[in-house]
Amino acid sequence: WSNVGLNYFCLDRKKKSKTSATESGMIRLLFLLSVALCCRGCPDRCLCSSQTVKCQNQDLDTIPHSLPNNTKILFVTGNNITSITADSFPTGLKLLTDVYLSGNGIESVGEMVFDNLPNLLRLDLSNNNLTDFSERAFPDDNKLQVLNLSRCIHNHTFIDTVLGVLQRGNLRMLQVLDLSNNALVILPDDMFTGLSSLLTLSLQNSSIIGVNNGTLKSPPLRDLDLRDNSLRYLQASTMAAFSFKPGLHIQMVGNPWQCTCIIEETLAWLKNFTQITDIQNLTCANPKALRGQPLLQVDMPQLKCSGNMDGVLETSYVFLGLVLALIGVIFLLVLYLNRKGIKRWMYNIRDACRDHMEGYHYRYEINSDPRLANLSINSDV
Ligand SMILES: *[C@@H]1O[C@H](CO)[C@@H](O)[C@H](O)[C@H]1NC(C)=O
Ligand SMILES: *[C@@H]1O[C@H](CO)[C@@H](O)[C@H](O)[C@H]1NC(C)=O
Ligand SMILES: *[C@@H]1O[C@H](CO)[C@@H](O)[C@H](O)[C@H]1NC(C)=O
Ligand SMILES: *[C@@H]1O[C@H](CO)[C@@H](O)[C@H](O)[C@H]1NC(C)=O
Ligand SMILES: *[C@@H]1O[C@H](CO)[C@@H](O)[C@H](O)[C@H]1NC(C)=O
Ligand SMILES: *[C@@H]1O[C@H](CO)[C@@H](O)[C@H](O)[C@H]1NC(C)=O
Ligand SMILES: *[C@@H]1O[C@H](CO)[C@@H](O)[C@H](O)[C@H]1NC(C)=O
Ligand SMILES: *[C@@H]1O[C@H](CO)[C@@H](O)[C@H](O)[C@H]1NC(C)=O
Ligand SMILES: *[C@@H]1O[C@H](CO)[C@@H](O)[C@H](O)[C@H]1NC(C)=O
Repeated sequence: WSNVGLNYFCLDRKKKSKTSATESGMIRLLFLLSVALCCRGCPDRCLCSSQTVKCQNQDLDTIPHSLPNNTKILFVTGNNITSITADSFPTGLKLLTDVYLSGNGIESVGEMVFDNLPNLLRLDLSNNNLTDFSERAFPDDNKLQVLNLSRCIHNHTFIDTVLGVLQRGNLRMLQVLDLSNNALVILPDDMFTGLSSLLTLSLQNSSIIGVNNGTLKSPPLRDLDLRDNSLRYLQASTMAAFSFKPGLHIQMVGNPWQCTCIIEETLAWLKNFTQITDIQNLTCANPKALRGQPLLQVDMPQLKCSGNMDGVLETSYVFLGLVLALIGVIFLLVLYLNRKGIKRWMYNIRDACRDHMEGYHYRYEINSDPRLANLSINSDV
């Protein structure tokens, strides 16, 4: 607005061309004084235009302190700021609504960081390396609507310390939450209970394997992005969680759907649930024979479920055959390894037999005595 002021001043001068030189000098002095009082200059290594301040890729290690007090939008991106604390915004910036702090390597967000930004609406903390986020970072009466935590959590161990702010941070006005590109896997049940205004949630590419029944209960969610996760099928609890949100629209393309018997219930549910917006584009990832086939075109018999036992029986016969073959091979191997012992044993038996036979022989000779023949034949038999 200083430009507008100057233009006005110039017009003023043209109109009143007869004004004396001293008077115009006085006016100019007063004007400059008021400008100096009202708006501090642009901080070092930053660019300021109207009410936007940009301090980008300057290797700054803190957020510049002397920001103009009429700043509305602030970009401090691509610097080297490891933590933000209550000192990061030491003066009240009542007009500041948008703060972009992407790509600074921020590891911790302390207490009361944003207390001096009462009108903060959009905060971008994407592409950082958060390990700690204070639950008291935002003032109680904050108005935050959009929070971007994309690509922020690189280590699963810190999920609780970073995302506790969602549960207990008083983010009652938050409408859009971006949690994409984080290694989340599974979400704690009560994670979103504090977000009573949340409408849009992105969990894209976050290794999600399922959503618990209670997780989505509280927020009035309308759009849920689950693209590029690790969903192989939907567990009963996940389907229950979605069914309880009739107004919810979900995107699920890019998951490794497992088109075996395990997906039978999911498939039946999907075909009947109209809120998956990209359902036409979901494809099987496994087994190989069905890879790339649209989920909606998979027929139940292709899943080889209990309903048709042929497949199951076939595989169990093959398995039985393999087991028997293996036992046979092991048996032969044992025989082979013990061949000497067996040979010896055979000889022993042969010798034993021979001794025995000799005994018979002897007895036979005795038996051939006609006088004893009847007796001995009876006893031998
Ligand atoms: C900026 O500060 C000046 C005094 O330093 C004050 O008169 C003005 O109202 C402030 N502007 C805003 C938007 O707070
Ligand atoms: C960031 O700052 C730390 C010290 O605060 C320094 O060791 C490191 O080299 C800096 N990194 C870059 C990319 O400037
Ligand atoms: C994040 O910070 C930790 C130290 O707290 C460091 O060991 C790790 O390499 C960092 N990760 C990335 C992706 O910068
Ligand atoms: C969050 O930030 C990433 C990159 O920094 C961007 O691509 C994405 O659109 C942002 N999300 C929202 C909701 O603005
Ligand atoms: C995650 O952090 C823990 C504790 O700081 C550490 O022991 C572990 O190695 C980290 N894991 C990865 C993948 O960085
Ligand atoms: C998915 O997220 C991981 C981190 O969890 C990231 O390294 C990778 O680049 C992301 N993929 C895409 C396509 O953005
Ligand atoms: C999901 O939760 C609701 C109550 O919130 C409950 O009635 C339902 O039985 C649960 N379903 C499953 C599959 O756990
Ligand atoms: C499909 O949905 C309707 C109601 O929307 C329900 O009555 C029916 O039982 C469902 N069918 C299956 C197979 O789930
Ligand atoms: C499905 O995929 C096609 C082709 O890749 C694309 O044009 C279309 O927008 C996708 N539809 C949805 C709803 O994502």
